Amino acid sequence: MTRPPSVPVPDSKSSVPSVTSFPVEEAAQALRERLGSVPEVLVVLGSGLGGLTEAVEGPQVIPFSELPGFPAAGVAGHGSRFVAGTLEGRSVLLQAGRFHFYEGHPAAVVAGPVRVAAHLGVERAIFTNAAGGIDPRFGPGTLMLIEDHINFMGRSPLVGPVAEGEVRFPDMSTAYDAEYRDLARRVALEQGISLERGVYAGVLGPNYETPAEIRMLGRLGATAVGMSTVPEVIVARARGMRVMAVSLITNAAAGISLEELSHEEVLEAGQEAAPRLEALIRGVIREM
Ligand code: HPA
Repeated sequence: MTRPPSVPVPDSKSSVPSVTSFPVEEAAQALRERLGSVPEVLVVLGSGLGGLTEAVEGPQVIPFSELPGFPAAGVAGHGSRFVAGTLEGRSVLLQAGRFHFYEGHPAAVVAGPVRVAAHLGVERAIFTNAAGGIDPRFGPGTLMLIEDHINFMGRSPLVGPVAEGEVRFPDMSTAYDAEYRDLARRVALEQGISLERGVYAGVLGPNYETPAEIRMLGRLGATAVGMSTVPEVIVARARGMRVMAVSLITNAAAGISLEELSHEEVLEAGQEAAPRLEALIRGVIREM
């Protein structure tokens, strides 16, 4: 895509806060020294989904605190670390714990771990998250394959100078890899795991939405809502990574059910449904 001539081209000396405020290179180097080889797949685990780390063979645990640029993550249910090893015969890099905009982190930090994985040479990413169900058919425990997203966070992690290895205007028309979507559905079918499909609306949070906001998101085509994943997927696509993502619906979104929303409820539903999501991800990794 060509740039309109009137738009100034930011250069590396620009004062815009950007990826340059996250030490991607240094963190990737630190990981590389620990891992020895480049993992095939990055798997980002959402709230309450950290159990998959226990299935990794020959696990190497690298706490975020041992990597340059990684702040200590602070949401209940998140243990913040990478776990590298073998899963279903493939070398994987699991990321337990992630950074959210609602914690006050700048975009460079929110997208930092994905950039680090991409810099390492990881070419595929699976994202998981906990989300509220907007489609009234999606009750707690539903697994929803993300087919597309709507960025309602009011920001993009790509704002600022173009980071090394990224493109200025990444195409998002098939952000969620079509082959991986087919694969996920086939694996789900084979394993008898019911898997819905839909559109994830990424919102800033940290408050849950109002019923009016949920009605709006539903009318705009969203079937689930959550506070993560979108910035990570944007960066993954800007880096040319192939992406798959699944939401675990932990609650009916505001106004869809009459119940009040609580973080505890979100974590509980996560626990119940996590084994199904883990089985799905393992099946996908096996055949990726
Ligand atoms: N809204 C936003 N994020 C969420 C929700 C929700 O209802 N449930 C889990 N994460």
